Amino acid sequence: MDQYIIRGGNPLVGEVEITGAKNAALAILAASAMTDETVTIENMPDEADTNVLLRTMNDLGIFTHRTSRHIVRINAAKARNMPVDNEGIKKIRASYYLIGALLGKYRRAKVVLPGGCAIGLRPVDQHMKGFAALGATCRIEHGYITAEAKELHGAHIYLDISSVGATINIMMAATMATGQTIIENAAKEPHVVDLANFLNSMGARIKGAGTDVIRIRGVEKLHGTDYAIIPDQIEAGTFMMASAVTRGDITVTNVIPKHLESISAKLKEMGCQITEQDDAVRVVCRDRVRSTHVKTLPYPGFPTDMQPQITVALGLSNGVSIVTESIFENRFKYVDELVSMGASIKVEGSTAIISGVEKYTGAHITAPDLRAGAALVLAGLVADGFTTVDNIHFIERGYEDFYMKLRSLGAIIERLENADERSEQKFRLKYA
Ligand code: EPZ
Repeated sequence: MDQYIIRGGNPLVGEVEITGAKNAALAILAASAMTDETVTIENMPDEADTNVLLRTMNDLGIFTHRTSRHIVRINAAKARNMPVDNEGIKKIRASYYLIGALLGKYRRAKVVLPGGCAIGLRPVDQHMKGFAALGATCRIEHGYITAEAKELHGAHIYLDISSVGATINIMMAATMATGQTIIENAAKEPHVVDLANFLNSMGARIKGAGTDVIRIRGVEKLHGTDYAIIPDQIEAGTFMMASAVTRGDITVTNVIPKHLESISAKLKEMGCQITEQDDAVRVVCRDRVRSTHVKTLPYPGFPTDMQPQITVALGLSNGVSIVTESIFENRFKYVDELVSMGASIKVEGSTAIISGVEKYTGAHITAPDLRAGAALVLAGLVADGFTTVDNIHFIERGYEDFYMKLRSLGAIIERLENADERSEQKFRLKYA
């Protein structure tokens, strides 16, 4: 099994360049199958999840080619609309974006039920409600979601929950329906806006993305485009929190500071100094952070995908903090691991009550999912002694070059492939 091994103690200092947003990239990749013309996408992250989706698109006969590490060219003229199913795609959430894309273009889609991080129940009822309103018949059977329609027509859809995935999926299908669709209580996350901008650059007519009412006038055909994906809000936020955890001085570059405001605001409350530039944010946290309370909310609230990272930071604060998770019902699974490193945290339902401790201590821990895995790495970076992190494939699903970027900021961390006791021992001796 591959592992990270970390020797804690170094404050992280320096600049780190943020990659394209994973969750925008996944939606944009699926949407690029909606035209027969060539699409060129820049700032494409090179991460496990985006690569799984690219391979799956290949299996469907879609031409995909990375012309360089972060630029990919796609042509779906020869796409075969067959059931979407393989071992990799079963494990990622965004497989379901192919439903909206293929349903819009071909009026039929069959996709294996989505996987993704085990952070709660994650139903797809709002997606299906939207497709049905557009005139599609949707079924879940034999482990697949099938959606088909003779004709897709615009509709007025009110989402019960402002789901990111449902908003994106309905927006894609509605782009090629006849007439006008209105999505009310739409998600406002930056990647929803990025997908709308991408589709508009292909000839779609979408207005209002970024507000809770999105209006879509259906078009018959989409055309090719050149498009650059926005920077990853959560990767940037993770490095900003790394500064708070390690009492460091980190500047995240190639970011949109507006997308980071809820994170910057909390860091200020915690006593960190934040300096914003046009496309960079510097976070300096020299002292022990102050306790505060956090509730995760849809954008522009504090993101659920940053909840484990801020919990790790607050675990070292000078008082009692309360973190409330309001999006997913099972997103505190990492707390046991953090407690094994010395944290004092009690979880009651959707709330974590955190009594700040002075230090963490290194331990052998397991990443339970993507963001919690990254958060536990941050804990290891400040812990006394050595920390070994198992199940790092979760982290590598959505962070490009994670440990290399941490190293460039002064972290002592190595990635051990097929780790055995000897390689771990070697690391320990080297950094004792
Ligand atoms: C997206 O998941 C992201 N994934 C998640 O990123 C992120 O945590 C989440 O949005 C919230 O911001 C991708 O973009 C691939 P939702 P998604 O639909 O679309 C409930 C990461 O670490 N719901 O907005 O699945 C659902 O159970 C991850 O990168 C329904 O009840 O999230 C949840 O409680 C993990 N019915 C809430 O809505 C539905 O039909 C929000 O989910 C759909 C969702």
